[in-house]
Amino acid sequence: MLENFVTYNGTSIPAVGLGTWQSKPQDAYNAVRWALEFGYRHIDTAFVYGNEREVGQAVRDSKIPRENVFVTTKVPAEIKSSAQAEKSFFSSLANLGTDYVDLYLIHAPWPWDEVGKDCTEGNIAVWEKLLELRSKGYVREVGVSNFEIADIEAVTTATGVLPAVNQIYHFVGATESQLRDYCQKRGIVVEAYSPLGTGKLLQNPALCRMAERYGVTTAQLCIRYCLYKQTLALPKSVHRDRIAQNISLDFEIAAEDVAFLDAFGNC
Ligand code: A2P
Repeated sequence: MLENFVTYNGTSIPAVGLGTWQSKPQDAYNAVRWALEFGYRHIDTAFVYGNEREVGQAVRDSKIPRENVFVTTKVPAEIKSSAQAEKSFFSSLANLGTDYVDLYLIHAPWPWDEVGKDCTEGNIAVWEKLLELRSKGYVREVGVSNFEIADIEAVTTATGVLPAVNQIYHFVGATESQLRDYCQKRGIVVEAYSPLGTGKLLQNPALCRMAERYGVTTAQLCIRYCLYKQTLALPKSVHRDRIAQNISLDFEIAAEDVAFLDAFGNC
C-alpha cells in the first residue's frame, strides 16, 4: 500500500489526508482530533473554510509533534496580488498558531465568482510571493489547486519553478485524466479533493455492489481508487466512524474493476 507521495523536492506527503472543506469550526476541531487519533498525519484546510483556528488548535491539543503532521492551507482564490497574498498568509499562520505551513496552495486560478477569467498576471504575482515565503522557510512546499495545464505553464514559464502539487476535483467518473497525466509526467503530485464526489457517489448501485464484493464500504472503494490513479486522497468527514473507515484501505482492487471505474463516466 502506498503510504506517502514524494514531491520533486523530496518532501513526503501522507497519501490520505483529512479534508475539511464545509466542516464547521467545531466539527473541524473534533474531526482533526479523531483523525490524528486514527493515524492520519495530513490535514487539509484553507483560509476560506473558516476553520484554520480549530484545525491548528486540534493539532496542538493532539500533542503529536508538529513536524509529524502535514498541514496544508491555501491563499483565497480572489487574491491576485503579492501584497494581499502575503497578508493572507500571515493571517493563516496566526489562525493555525504555527510557525510554518507544510504546503501552501493558490486556491484557484480565478475568483470563484469569475470562473475561467484570465488572471495570469495575478497568478504569477502570487506564485512569486509563495516562492519567497518558501525561501524564507515559512512554507515547506508550494503548489496550486484547480489549475489547468495552461495555468500551470504560465506560472512555471514566468518563474522557472513548477508547482510541487496540483489539488484537483478528482473522483470515480470525474478524473480529468489529461490534466492528471500532464502533472504526473512532470512530477507534480496530484491531490484529489472530493474523492467521494462530495458524497454523491456513495449511493450509486454499481459502486455499492463492487464495494460489497470486496467487503468494504463504497467510500473506501472510492478512496482506494484515487490511490490507484496515483492521486493523493483528501476525503472529508466530520463523523468519527467514517474518519476511521476512510483511512482503513488495506485491500486491492482487481485490474478489471479499476478499468470499469476508469470508464465509469461513460457507463
Ligand atoms: P460527513 O462529513 O457528514 O461524514 P468528499 O470527501 O468527496 O467531499 O465527500 C464528503 C461527503 O461524504 C460528506 O458529506 C461526508 O459526510 C460524506 N462521507 C465522508 N466519508 C463517508 C463515509 N465513509 N461514509 C459515508 N459518507 C461519508
